[in-house]
Amino acid sequence: MAMQRILVTGGAGFIGCNFVHYIMEHTRLHVTVLDKLTYAGNIESLSGLPSSRFAFFEGDICDAAMVDSLTSSVDAVVHFAAESHNDNSLAEPRPFLDTNLLGTFTLIESARRHDIRFHHISTDEVYGDLALDDPHRFTEESVYRPTSPYSATKAGSDMLVRAWVRSFGLRATISNCSNNYGPYQHVEKFIPRQITNILDGDRPRLYGKGRNVRDWIHVEDHSSAVLAILERGRVGETYLIGADGERSNREVVEMLLALAGQPRDAYDLVTDRPGHDLRYAIDSSKLRRELGWAPRYSDFDAGLADTVQWYRDNEHWWRPQKAATESKYAGQGH
Ligand code: NAD
Ligand code: DAU
Repeated sequence: MAMQRILVTGGAGFIGCNFVHYIMEHTRLHVTVLDKLTYAGNIESLSGLPSSRFAFFEGDICDAAMVDSLTSSVDAVVHFAAESHNDNSLAEPRPFLDTNLLGTFTLIESARRHDIRFHHISTDEVYGDLALDDPHRFTEESVYRPTSPYSATKAGSDMLVRAWVRSFGLRATISNCSNNYGPYQHVEKFIPRQITNILDGDRPRLYGKGRNVRDWIHVEDHSSAVLAILERGRVGETYLIGADGERSNREVVEMLLALAGQPRDAYDLVTDRPGHDLRYAIDSSKLRRELGWAPRYSDFDAGLADTVQWYRDNEHWWRPQKAATESKYAGQGH
């Protein structure tokens, strides 16, 4: 029978809420969100959705009874919920073990019990980093080499899902995506932090020398890829998601300053992140070849300009998080 109802974990976070909006617009699926509303979750990001097709439950993915009652009435789980920020994982790793490892374990046990489809959202960071001049990019065959507490727990969660596929026949797929940007991203993350600093008349902050490279993808393109995998992906397979968007952090800050009409060097260099991964780069050929997926946002400059405009228009959404985020960074020398 065709898929009708899905459970989205972490649907009040950045990528999860964008995915929910995408699903509401592009499919007829009924969506239930399970989200703990940690500092990173914001119920406002889901406002205005029709109750005929959408329901929200506040709760922890480690709560087995709650998870089980929700998975019993859906055809699939799309699992976004995670502690997601590297700097936080360096300051306080424990919540990353609880949510990313035990939370994923709780969900796959329940999905196995109810024999439902499971899609696990993961990251390119599980593959460690690349040298700036390495001609290779990450593929589905790359070796796992996570370097931070965050990426180690995400790598562990991927391994759990793989083991449940092989040992218990869990009908799961995994996707590992590169760095997302777009609306509703928490101001702790690189691009929104710099946009909102500039809007506040503050200077952007680059870790180290700003030469680290990230492979940017618009969050809507992540959503379309996840939907393609959920609908047409082969069970047991991993798909890498990326949009050929490599830029150094310094280049990104220079672009943001140019968009604001400010000098290109109006940024500060601050204390580097311990163990800071140098470069990520995704080869998404398998996803494009097998499922015919392609990103819609091929122009990073245009996507970035749209994102700046979203933060200009939605100060009420990000303002309440800004001061606490900056004081946390000040304590870390960032
Ligand atoms: P986010 O931090 O913005 O959102 C995470 C959401 O999960 C929040 O709404 C939070 O309240 C919820 N959550 C946290 N712990 C929970 C728990 N125990 N139970 C229920 N809900 C809980 O994260 P994001 O950037 O949207 O990332 C979403 C997923 O995508 C994560 O799995 C992350 O590893 C992965 N990912 C992120 C990126 C990126 O660039 N941000 C790239 C690739 C993969
Ligand atoms: O690659 C996918 C990953 O991308 C996801 O798995 C993570 O959930 C997501 O947070 C992101 O991880 P990064 O560590 O790459 O993202 P972050 O936004 O924290 O930082 C991006 C780059 O910018 C990184 O090289 C660190 C740097 N940085 C970050 C901040 C907050 C700065 O130079 N200055 C800053 O103020």
